[in-house]
Amino acid sequence: MSLKHPRAKQPRVTALSVDPLYDLGGETIPRHRIGPHEVTPSVAYETIHDELMLDGNARMNLATFVTTWMEPEAERLLQETFDKNMIDKDEYPQTAELEMRCVNILAHLWNAPDQGNATGCSTTGSSEAAMLGGLALKRRWQHKRRAEGKPADKPNLVMGINVQVCWEKFANYWDVEMRLVPMEGDRLRLGAEEAVAMCDENTIGVVAVLGSTFDGSYEPVKEICDALDAYQERTGIDIPVHVDGASGAFVAPFVDPDLEWDFRLPRVSSINVSGHKYGLVYPGVGWIIWRDASHLPEDLIFWVNYLGDNMPTFALNFSRPGAQVIGQYYNFLRLGFEGYRKVQQYSRDVATRLADQIAALGPFELLTRGDALPVFAFVLKPEVENYTVFDVSAALRERGWLLPAYTFPKNREDIAALRVVVKRGFSHDMADLLIEDIKRQLPRLQAQPTPVHNADTHTGFHH
Ligand SMILES: Cc1ncc(COP(=O)(O)O)c(C=O)c1O
Repeated sequence: MSLKHPRAKQPRVTALSVDPLYDLGGETIPRHRIGPHEVTPSVAYETIHDELMLDGNARMNLATFVTTWMEPEAERLLQETFDKNMIDKDEYPQTAELEMRCVNILAHLWNAPDQGNATGCSTTGSSEAAMLGGLALKRRWQHKRRAEGKPADKPNLVMGINVQVCWEKFANYWDVEMRLVPMEGDRLRLGAEEAVAMCDENTIGVVAVLGSTFDGSYEPVKEICDALDAYQERTGIDIPVHVDGASGAFVAPFVDPDLEWDFRLPRVSSINVSGHKYGLVYPGVGWIIWRDASHLPEDLIFWVNYLGDNMPTFALNFSRPGAQVIGQYYNFLRLGFEGYRKVQQYSRDVATRLADQIAALGPFELLTRGDALPVFAFVLKPEVENYTVFDVSAALRERGWLLPAYTFPKNREDIAALRVVVKRGFSHDMADLLIEDIKRQLPRLQAQPTPVHNADTHTGFHH
């Protein structure tokens, strides 16, 4: 099977068009084959640079959770360290040291019981971290079942249908049954009772998301843990919780300090986060931390040489960039707790104000208002029948805004929403420009006789 996009065009067998002032000695550069000879660095640079101009403007990308702006000093550090391979712990011991500092910082932020000796590692992002978290849950469950002389061949993992696609990958790649709690009425995320209703002796864990990619809301981690406590009392079955804090684990510690979602809850076994989302680092870095060493089975750990010694690692990749880990440590050092708090609070202020302004425009209704993650989703009121959220998304794209429109999953497929992700680098001024552009486009949309775009015709958007 090819990994080509179904709508991809046939590869053009034409040559690349190169500025005629560059002398290629009469040769051309084929588009889909390696060229016959070398070209100068400036020809290579200009040609690729010009083609990439057609990508969207990252700063106007309100679809992505991933960092689109870092300080010049951070960029300088990243450039200086692009050559570092994270796995070469022996050759780059200080990079390995900074990684361990980050692990300890996160364990402390998330209230792990043994903070001096945190168990965790960096990854390429939350997806890899989710794989590692899921694997640890599966292996722990298997060990327990085998020790009890019970079958260990039908593991399942319980989660809401709104989970990010990485969990579907985990279940598929590692043969774990995915038990998805559907949405119901106004509950657009996992509910505690509904999660417990799907659990049994083969459940390796429950995944709670902080917060949902569909609407930015936090799932009720504490309620889920409490409901699993009651379930254990009733049945004797002890089910751990993994928190997918891809975005929220870098938001809640700073702006929701009283919210109990982390290792303060004894049932929380592991937490993942994307350093490249609200950790404020360019892609790709993620993190996973376990409550303590007993939550990460020994037989998943591999050993690499480190300063002539052996260092434990748990990863899907071997080689992987070290620069982003250094970027993460830069942010911890540069911002400190208060700096992170200011950044996340500002994003929340921008998100909630922008959400209120959108609600005040008239045709829109908010599903969320940006007061959990600085992310909110909104729909068109039912009486709007002549244009769709997909039309709104397309109209805004004309001005360069990337604002995704999408439908919700099973049981609430009727909801078609737009979503705004506010992050560092998106200011009140930019939010005002977005509002002006929505206002400018609305009269045209309101005058159109029938919808133009729908979920099938619109550019695909995936969570
Ligand atoms: C809740 C959640 N989990 C996992 C992921 C995957 O994260 P990554 O892109 O870092 O692999 C995302 C990405 O949006 C997410 O929102």
